[in-house]
Amino acid sequence: MAVLVTGGAGYIGSFTVLQLLLADYQVVVIDNLYNSSVEALERVKFLAGSKAKNFLAFYENDIRDKQGLEKIFAEQTIDSIIHFAALKAVGESSVIPLDYYSVNVNGTIELLQAAKKSDTCRSIVFSSSATVYGDATRIPGMIPIPENCPLDPTNPYGRTKFFIEQIIADHVNAERNAGKPWNAAILRYFNPVGAHPSGILGEDPQGVPLNLLPILGNVAVGKIEKLSVFGNDYPSKDGTPIRDYIHVIDLAKGHIAAVNYMKEHSDTPIKYWNLGTGKGSTVFDIIHAFSKTVGRDLPYEIKGRRAGDVLDLTADPSLANKELNWKTELTLQDACEDLWRWVSNNPDGYRKPYPASLNPQ
Ligand code: NAD
Ligand code: WQD
Repeated sequence: MAVLVTGGAGYIGSFTVLQLLLADYQVVVIDNLYNSSVEALERVKFLAGSKAKNFLAFYENDIRDKQGLEKIFAEQTIDSIIHFAALKAVGESSVIPLDYYSVNVNGTIELLQAAKKSDTCRSIVFSSSATVYGDATRIPGMIPIPENCPLDPTNPYGRTKFFIEQIIADHVNAERNAGKPWNAAILRYFNPVGAHPSGILGEDPQGVPLNLLPILGNVAVGKIEKLSVFGNDYPSKDGTPIRDYIHVIDLAKGHIAAVNYMKEHSDTPIKYWNLGTGKGSTVFDIIHAFSKTVGRDLPYEIKGRRAGDVLDLTADPSLANKELNWKTELTLQDACEDLWRWVSNNPDGYRKPYPASLNPQ
């Protein structure tokens, strides 16, 4: 029995595949490499050492390709899915919303249809996002954000996640009513950051980076002249917005905990868990932490607010802490140091293979 990881060559997917292999899960990956490279999977196998034998197959395939999916489910015995594959750029989602609905929503429906047809797979762990909460500060008492905070996504990307959460719940309920004990874990991530401490696995988006720490990484290696700080007039301690930055390795481990939980609780139809640290950091906290790691002040300039940004997205992760027996272990400083090792060792991302003779830590 294997776990099918969609989007497994991507940033969070590759770290999760590594954790799955290390935890002795057999893994099958599907990815169309739209925003990733197969080199990431080579490095995952390298880091997994002898456990790379648990990596069964990689399929370069679109999740909307019905025939491709059916072939994978026929060739492999899949018993659960971790579903990462998606388009994820918030701004772009307002420009090409139909593409976002096509990949994210239609892709999930095709995936569920193929899984249903296979009849071996009855569990899905889904990559949702804190963005489904929208501006939680609109409701008093909702910071840190608990899972029962009312959902109010404010952009097409967030709405794809919101709709998919409901589609998955409807599917699970229908299957259970038909006597097939499907279950699902909806994981709402806060801001994933960092890289592997070996410096050989990290985030390598196609095109320009859009998120704060990857941009700072590019400033540090001279690829971007300076960071634009989007607003310093928010009601926070230093005027910049607050986010909950979670190390990608802690996040990946949260997926293993969720897969284990769903296996052990086939009586539980659906669970919703926030994966975050519970600790908020401002943009200036991040600039200072990363500048300290790099050993010099990184240039920035204050610009106007970015449309759609909210003051505070800090998780209340206590439900996941308790039920999954999972909590974050790595710090923001760990994330900065790991990111720095990644960007300085791989200024061109995965485009140059890492020499296999170098031992990871
Ligand atoms: P990523 O872009 O690195 O990974 C997504 C992967 O999906 C990529 O490898 C891409 O090639 C693949 N993919 C895209 N469209 C596909 C398709 N049609 N068929 C098959 N594969 C396809 O992104 P990530 O940061 O690793 O995010 C993974 C998941 O987590 C996404 O669902 C994202 O929405 C969600 N998420 C990410 C963040 C974040 O800040 N990184 C936060 C919350 C939620
Ligand atoms: C973080 C902070 C910016 C860039 C996004 C998605 C969210 C989730 C995680 C997928 C904010 C500030 C940023 C810059 C800046 N992804 N910033 N200058 O917006 O919190 O969350 O990624 O689900 O849905 O919206 O992350 O890294 O873009 O921004 O000042 O050049 O950094 O204003 O306060 P965000 P981010």
